[in-house]
Amino acid sequence: MAEIVKKPVQIVDTILRDAHQSLIATRMTTEEMLPIVPKLDEVGYKAVECWGGATFDAALRFLHEDPWDRLRKFREGFKKTKLQMLFRGQNILGYKPYPDDVVDYFCKKSIDNGINVIRIFDCLNDLRNLKTAVDATKQYGAEAQIALSYTLGDAYTMEYWMDIARRIEDMGADSICIKDMAGLLVPTAATELVTSLKAATKLPIELHTHYTSGVAAMTYMKAVEAGCDIIDTAISPFALGTSQPATEVMVQAFKGTEYDTGLDLNLLAEIADYFRPIRDKYLENGTLNPLNMGVNIKTLQYQVPGGMLSNLTSQLAQQGAEDKFYDVLEEVPRVRKDLGEPPLVTPSSQIVGTQAVMNVLAGERYKMVTKETKDILSGKYGKCVKPFNPEVVKKCIGDVEPITCRPADLLEPGLEAFEKEVAPYKKQDEDVLTYALFPQVAIDYFKYRDAQDTGVDVKSADTENKAYPV
Ligand code: CO
Repeated sequence: MAEIVKKPVQIVDTILRDAHQSLIATRMTTEEMLPIVPKLDEVGYKAVECWGGATFDAALRFLHEDPWDRLRKFREGFKKTKLQMLFRGQNILGYKPYPDDVVDYFCKKSIDNGINVIRIFDCLNDLRNLKTAVDATKQYGAEAQIALSYTLGDAYTMEYWMDIARRIEDMGADSICIKDMAGLLVPTAATELVTSLKAATKLPIELHTHYTSGVAAMTYMKAVEAGCDIIDTAISPFALGTSQPATEVMVQAFKGTEYDTGLDLNLLAEIADYFRPIRDKYLENGTLNPLNMGVNIKTLQYQVPGGMLSNLTSQLAQQGAEDKFYDVLEEVPRVRKDLGEPPLVTPSSQIVGTQAVMNVLAGERYKMVTKETKDILSGKYGKCVKPFNPEVVKKCIGDVEPITCRPADLLEPGLEAFEKEVAPYKKQDEDVLTYALFPQVAIDYFKYRDAQDTGVDVKSADTENKAYPV
């Protein structure tokens, strides 16, 4: 019998980032995470995903925690496991493009505080928006992974994905991630996509998907068989539904094959035992909605990420217009087409979703237009894969000439001004970055932090609830 060539698939567990972001609106606290860190550290994961836009925002906004402090505690607890974060290219962890000096400094500080792998994506797949973050990540000694925001549409051919993979390799990235935030990648398409990417590049390929549409574990199986090197999973109590496939299930599925992960199922079971009561707590207090735990086939029908669906529902509920849900769902692909058919991921998902709601509620398309819609049509987020609808451009921005350069080339350095503004509150270098990204939320948090120090009770007034499709 011929000897089997072992090609173990590697696992990134998302329990400390995407899993609780997808299922419980990113509400898990540092206190809930830290006791299990020593066991997570023993598993032998390729990396643990533990930081990103929503974890940063929600820690400050809802949990009154310093996200930097959380990261330092992770670093202290994880002695041998790499820590991975998600980074929105030029938008950093926010919703709009930032100047290069802010992007560079954010990468530096993330790495200084313990991050080893930065997964960088752009909501339009405009690689120019990734360059500063990739260069900074490499310069400060971490691994730079570039993520393709996966989507469907006429422009997204195999040639498109292969071309982008070649360009990613040329940019000096260490690996490529297929980031399927909506769970649109079905098993046979995964075979084709991974095979094509493997032919186009020598870089390791990681696949990140969501269980939302119910196909994710099958998709992982097919992707791994086609040569995918790394898959993102979540420990079972926070797996499935809008989260990732379960770690233990994938480990068991590959056991004894050439792709055997080598991970210890007993250890994973102990970790699952730890998270189960935490899951139950969020189920009982209503944070975990059982609707998010099943299969939502609308995500395949409408090609809308699960997080975006729940955002649309809450936007309509606020307007007392729940009956317009299906009108809005049908308007989403039309708006997406008008705006150059971008992938739907933060922030393009919010821009398209909000505009679709406005078009439906106003009873006339583009009668009311958000600043972000105008900005995207003005080229301020970068280049879309398809041209904009010229009539919509005319109606929204008139005769303004859209920019065609890399948007950040037009932004003046910003750190100095942010430093001045944050000075009255500053307690650590990182505060300027917190402030640059979320000014109002940061100030609320800094006031809360000062009050904690002086013993005065101050509560933040901001209780806005957002869902993030990433
Ligand atoms: Co995700």
